[in-house]
Amino acid sequence: MLSEPAVSGHSGCPHGFQPAVPNRAAGGGDAAAIRIDGFGAAREVLRSGDVRQAGFNAELLERFVGRAHAPVLYQEGEPHQKQRGATARFFAPRVVATRYRELIERTSRELLDRFRADGRARLDDLSLELAVAVAADIVGLTNSSRSAMAVRLNRFFATSAGSAGWLGNVGNVVLGQIRMLGFYLADVRPAIRARRNAPREDVISHLISEGYSNREILTECVTYGAAGMATTREFIVMAALRLFEGDDLRARFLAANEQDRMSILEECLRLAPVISVLKRRTERDIAVETAAGPLVIPAQSLVEIDIDAANRDSAAAGACPHELDPDRARSAKVPASLMSFGDGPHRCPGASVALHEAAIFLDQLLRIEGIRLERQPTVTMNPISTGYELRNAVIAMD
Ligand code: HEM
Repeated sequence: MLSEPAVSGHSGCPHGFQPAVPNRAAGGGDAAAIRIDGFGAAREVLRSGDVRQAGFNAELLERFVGRAHAPVLYQEGEPHQKQRGATARFFAPRVVATRYRELIERTSRELLDRFRADGRARLDDLSLELAVAVAADIVGLTNSSRSAMAVRLNRFFATSAGSAGWLGNVGNVVLGQIRMLGFYLADVRPAIRARRNAPREDVISHLISEGYSNREILTECVTYGAAGMATTREFIVMAALRLFEGDDLRARFLAANEQDRMSILEECLRLAPVISVLKRRTERDIAVETAAGPLVIPAQSLVEIDIDAANRDSAAAGACPHELDPDRARSAKVPASLMSFGDGPHRCPGASVALHEAAIFLDQLLRIEGIRLERQPTVTMNPISTGYELRNAVIAMD
């Protein structure tokens, strides 16, 4: 599934490279949207002060809950800046290198001890539980059972992404509401109660201090669930598959220092970004430079930024952009995973956390004697996150 043996075709490059998983570019999109596929133009749009979030059902959400106290992903301008500034301390490199590293190492050991005892596991279950443990600690969802919360969130996101015609959608909305209520009662409300009595160093305590209502805190928790847990879960499975398949890559990963391990992981993510399209609505005309020349995007346009394509733009990625090459020479101003964590004011605050999770967990996993991938996952696309979902990837031990 994720194996891309060398395919020919890209002149001068030793191997060609096809998308690791079906990408959003392969199917659909809004016909009325203006599509941006170059890295430079994508960056200009995402950094512009004249655009607002239009992805992740933002425009639908705004109609129902408005913008005051909206989750950070949906805020813009000064309130957004303030919110990012106030929560930046939860993502500071020192905190990642100490508090989260310790948590990631411990949780990975627990999960893999369980796998050793059972001899078989679903990789996507393990990666979800790890991602939930870490994001829950950042958010402050620590007053309920971690595994039970992972199951609840998994069910909730499965209903949100479902599409089975209008009747199916009505059913999904109702089921989604019930599951959201379950998440609220079992996980979010106890966490809020505990923090009203004794604030801690986490997002929920911060939101309480800012006067957010319980409903607003719930919405932010769901956003972190999708932004931090669901994405990292897929990233870890995707990178694991890549490392299971490539003997040389796996050997290099296991021998590497941390920085090199991160470069390998970021390069895997560049070629298979978990979120493949970002959307924005322009508030004024904005001018961007594209490969075909200057382009003026009129006010009120919906802009779809094709992350898959931007990540393979040789102007930013360097030569042979379809090749997996952790040593690639690219511009110093471009991150190794290019646009995979976004850009501009909404750039993912959890990027370093996610990379540490993958690096530590996969290092422990691949060192298990006799470890093998028993079943390739089923791949589907999530229409809301515009990302791939890898399910039922089974690992076993000889
Ligand atoms: C591989 C894993 C991850 C990927 C691929 C990813 C990707 C992204 C992207 C592309 C955005 C920008 C969305 C946009 O501009 O419209 C974003 C935003 C965000 N991410 Fe991540 N993310 C990951 C992990 C995490 C983690 C671990 C956390 C926290 C625990 C997190 C929290 C957030 C939040 C709160 C935002 C909204 C930021 C804002 O709007 O200012 N993400 N993420």
